[in-house]
Amino acid sequence: MRFIGSKARLLTQINEFLMPKLDGTEQSFTDLFSGSGVVSQYFKDRFKITSNDLMYFSYVIARATVQLNHVPTYAKLAQVGIADPFKYLQSKDLTGDQGGYVTDNFSPAGAAGRMYFQTQNAIRIDFVREQIEQWFHAGLIDDDGYYYLLDALIQGIPFVSNITGTYGAYLKRWDRRSYKPLTLIPSSVVDNESANSALQEDALQLIRHSSGDIVYIDPPYNARQYAPNYHVLETIARWDKPVLHGVTGQRDYQDEKSTFAMKSKVTAAMRDLFGHLNFKHVVVSYSTDGLIPEAELHQLLADNAVNGEVTVKRMPYRKYKSKIVNPKTQVEELLFYFRSKHYVNPTGTGQPDKKVVASQPVSRGGYIKSPLNYIGGKYKLLPQIMPIFPNHVDTFVDLFSGGGNVGINADAHHVVFNDINTKINGLFRYFQGKDPDYLIAEIRARIAKYQLSKTNQAGFLQYRKDYNADPHPIDLYTLVAYSFNYQFRFNNELQYNNPFGRNRSHFSERMAENLRRFVNRLNTIDATFTDQYFNQIDLTGLGTDSLVYADPPYLITTGSYNDGNRGFVNWTQEQDKQLFAFLDGLDQRQIKFALSNVTEHKGRTNDALITWSQKYHTHYLSYDYSNSSHNTKHQGSCEVLITNY
Ligand SMILES: C[S@@+](CC[C@H](N)C(=O)[O-])C[C@H]1O[C@@H](n2cnc3c(N)ncnc32)[C@H](O)[C@@H]1O
Repeated sequence: MRFIGSKARLLTQINEFLMPKLDGTEQSFTDLFSGSGVVSQYFKDRFKITSNDLMYFSYVIARATVQLNHVPTYAKLAQVGIADPFKYLQSKDLTGDQGGYVTDNFSPAGAAGRMYFQTQNAIRIDFVREQIEQWFHAGLIDDDGYYYLLDALIQGIPFVSNITGTYGAYLKRWDRRSYKPLTLIPSSVVDNESANSALQEDALQLIRHSSGDIVYIDPPYNARQYAPNYHVLETIARWDKPVLHGVTGQRDYQDEKSTFAMKSKVTAAMRDLFGHLNFKHVVVSYSTDGLIPEAELHQLLADNAVNGEVTVKRMPYRKYKSKIVNPKTQVEELLFYFRSKHYVNPTGTGQPDKKVVASQPVSRGGYIKSPLNYIGGKYKLLPQIMPIFPNHVDTFVDLFSGGGNVGINADAHHVVFNDINTKINGLFRYFQGKDPDYLIAEIRARIAKYQLSKTNQAGFLQYRKDYNADPHPIDLYTLVAYSFNYQFRFNNELQYNNPFGRNRSHFSERMAENLRRFVNRLNTIDATFTDQYFNQIDLTGLGTDSLVYADPPYLITTGSYNDGNRGFVNWTQEQDKQLFAFLDGLDQRQIKFALSNVTEHKGRTNDALITWSQKYHTHYLSYDYSNSSHNTKHQGSCEVLITNY
C-alpha cells in the first residue's frame, strides 16, 4: 500500500545493515511503528514478530499478515453456499443498493458531495464492510477470518481512491484510478510457526512492558500526523461511523495524535522511548529533514547505547525522479544501529550483564506478566485497570486470581491470591521463596531429560504420564509450557490431560523472563495464597483501606474455565447473583471492591449485572488494548470495571 514513510524501498538495505550485527541467537523482532506492515512482513520468515502501531487500520493489516500464519478457510461460509467470500463480495449484484455510511460521507451522492470515491465504489465498500461485520456477528467467520477479509478491503481501497497519496484531501477532478471497480486484495501469509502478535498501543506504553532481541523503530519524523492523513481508511477499518467535520470529512483525532509528530513534544518522547528499551539490538530510521536534528538524535541514541557506540548509514532520499540533486539540500534517510544499555539479558549466558538480571528492581520495564498464559488473563488491561485502584491499599485481595497478573502488580502491604483452582496456587506457593535462577535451571533440566520441543509429542506424552504418576509443581509448570494453549486442564480424577501444543508451545526466553520477574516480585511482597470458593474467604482483617478485586468468569463470554467438568464450578446466573450479594456485603462493611466484567458481548447483554451495577460506578474499558476509542474490534463488546468507591 502507498503509505507515507513506508520502508518498502529500503527493506534490503535495512536487512544488510542489521544482519552483520546479529550473532544468530536472535529470535524475536519488534516493529514498534509498523505502518503499512512491510518491515514486519519482510522479517517474518526469520523471526517471531510483534507489530505495533497507533492506527487501527495498521493493526488490521498486521493482524492479518503478521499474527496469522495461515489464510483462513471460511468453512462456515462454504456451508451457507459462499465458497469464495472475496469473489462474492466483489461481484454480488448491487443494483438498486443505495449504499450507507461511506456513500453518504465519502462520495458525491452524500450531502457534502465529497469525492474520495465514485459512488459505485462507495456503495461496494459499504456492502463489503457491512457484510464482514454481519458474518462476524452471525458466527460465520471468526476473528482471523474477520481481520483477513478486512485487510483485503483496506489493501484494495487506495487503488480506487481519488487522492494524490494521502486522505488529507480528495481531488476536485476524478483521477483515472477512481473509475476502476474496487478489487479486494487478499494478502499473502507466511507461516513462521511462531506466535506473532499485532498490537495497537502507544509505543511509549508498549516499551514499558515488552522486551526482545531486535526492535525496529520508525517513528513519524515530521509534523504531519498520520491520523488525519489516513482518516478514511481508519474510519472504514473501525466502522464506528463517526460524525465527520469540514470539507475533507475528518473524524475527531485528538486522542490519536502522535507525540512523535509534535515539535514541542518529540524530544521528550524520544528520550522516554530510548531510555526504556529492553531490547538487545536497536535499529532506528529517521531523516535528515526530521523534527529532531541529526546530531541531537545521534547524541540521544549514544546516551542509551552500550559504550555509547552508534553506527549510522545514510541513504539519499529521491523524492522526485530528477537526477540532478543539489548536495546542500539533498535529504538523506538515516539508519542507526546500537545495542541498548537498558537491555536485560534474559538467560545471562555468556553476557556481561548476567549479575544485573537478578538484581534489577522488580518494577523495571512496566507491569509484571504472569508466567502462566492463563485464559482471560488481565495483563493487557492493567494499564487501564491499575490507575482506577485506590492509592493506599492495605490488604489487596485478588479474589479470582488465576495467573496472578493483577495481584502481582498490586501496590499494597499485603496481597491475598485466592483461586478455587488449587493446582495454580499450589504452583505459586512452590515458587514463593525460591531463587528464580534455580527454578529456571530445574525447568531446563526437565526439558533436556524429556527432550521437550515444539515437535516432540512422544517426549511430552511420556512426561505427562510421569507427572500424573508423581505430581510435582515444577513438572506441572514445565508440562504446561509445552501444552496446547498453555492451559491447566485436569480431568475429574485430577489427572493432567491437556494435549501437546505442537508447533506453538514451548518454554521460551520470554516465559523464562516473565517467570524471573514474577518470582522476584513474589519474593519481595507479603503474599498469601488461598483456595476458597469466593464467598468463603476470610474477611476478618479487611477494612476501609482494603481492596477486593474480583475477576470472575464472565457469564456471557466463554472460556474453558466456565466448563464445570474440569474441577471448577460452572458459572451461571446463580454464581453471578452470589457474587453481587457478596460484593454488596463488602460495601456495607465499607470495604472497597472493584469488579471486572463484560456487560455486552457479541449481541448478548448481562442485564442483571447492568441493573446491579447502577448502585456503583462503572468505568468503561477498551476491549482490545489500551485506548478506549479503539474499541471497535467487536462492536458491542463492552468490558467494564465496576467500583464502589
Ligand atoms: C514512518 S511510519 C512507519 C512506516 C512503516 N515502517 C512502514 O514501512 O510502513 C510511522 C508510524 O508510526 C505510527 N505512530 C505514530 N506515533 C505512534 C506512537 N506513539 N505509538 C505507536 N505508533 C505510532 C504512525 O501511525 C505511523 O504508522
